[in-house]
Amino acid sequence: KKLSIIGMPMDLGQTRRGVDMGPSAIRYAGINERLAVLFDWIEDLGDITVGRPEVKIDPNSNLRNLELVAEKNSLLAEEVDKIIESGSFPLVLGGDHSIAIGTLAGVSKHYKNLGVIWYDAHGDLNTAETSPSGNIHGMPLAASLGLGHEKLTQIGGYSPKIKPKNIVIIGARSLDDGEKDLIKKMGIKVFTMHEIDRLGMAAVIEETVQHLKEKTDGVHLSLDLDGLDPTDAPGVGTPVIGGISYRESHLAMEMLAEAKIITSAEFVEVNPILDEKNKTAFVAVALMGSLFGEKLL
Ligand code: ARG
Ligand code: MN
Ligand code: MN
Ligand code: MN
Repeated sequence: KKLSIIGMPMDLGQTRRGVDMGPSAIRYAGINERLAVLFDWIEDLGDITVGRPEVKIDPNSNLRNLELVAEKNSLLAEEVDKIIESGSFPLVLGGDHSIAIGTLAGVSKHYKNLGVIWYDAHGDLNTAETSPSGNIHGMPLAASLGLGHEKLTQIGGYSPKIKPKNIVIIGARSLDDGEKDLIKKMGIKVFTMHEIDRLGMAAVIEETVQHLKEKTDGVHLSLDLDGLDPTDAPGVGTPVIGGISYRESHLAMEMLAEAKIITSAEFVEVNPILDEKNKTAFVAVALMGSLFGEKLL
């Protein structure tokens, strides 16, 4: 078993500075030491060069920083593609959630029916037409479904990357009107906080695995740290109260490890500037440990 870590210091998909330092914060929280014992071989490929030219911030756009977000995500897609080709598991460190566009572009060409678990307070199913903010980090799931601007949907040279039936959203508690319509129209499976409270996380993950196992040939985990409650993960740019706990999240990762369905992963939206002593990055690393099979005994 081989693991390749790649950082994507992207903050152009939203307007709060600091999320570009997410990959450093996660490395500082001990990712290499924690994961090295769980793999036969591990490499850290460093970061994709993103940069952030101040003058290019696009204050009034409904697709803020479109060109740069698209360009940098194409680079990420190529790197992720190469990692999979080399027979290694790609683990991408964000960066804001717009990077999922690039990750999925690199991953999905290797699968006929890629499944996606979107662990998030949000749906990230907006397009320029429905977005209340113009922030592309609220659009990656839509773009991967082939919806939105073609500079985003055509990254990697093909579209769509995923099918609505192969998506499971877990932890949703903030959805815009256009996102709600899309979820109903496309029949995307969503476990909102209501279902997590009502069924418990164990049943939610059992149903998720059930839903994806038969019809997919690989499953990508896109974990936005704001899926967790802000008390457990305060270092995020768009916190929403009433989220998934640290414990529930560990259980979710452990059950996904047991099910052996995850073939790629990304941990996004860690913003150390907004954090409390790097707590959110430590939580991210702890969850990675469970996802990759760490056991106490
Ligand atoms: N729905 C809101 C928007 O489109 C918030 C999106 C937050 N997304 C995220 N990846 N944190 O702007
Ligand atoms: Mn390839
Ligand atoms: Mn989110
Ligand atoms: Mn998100």
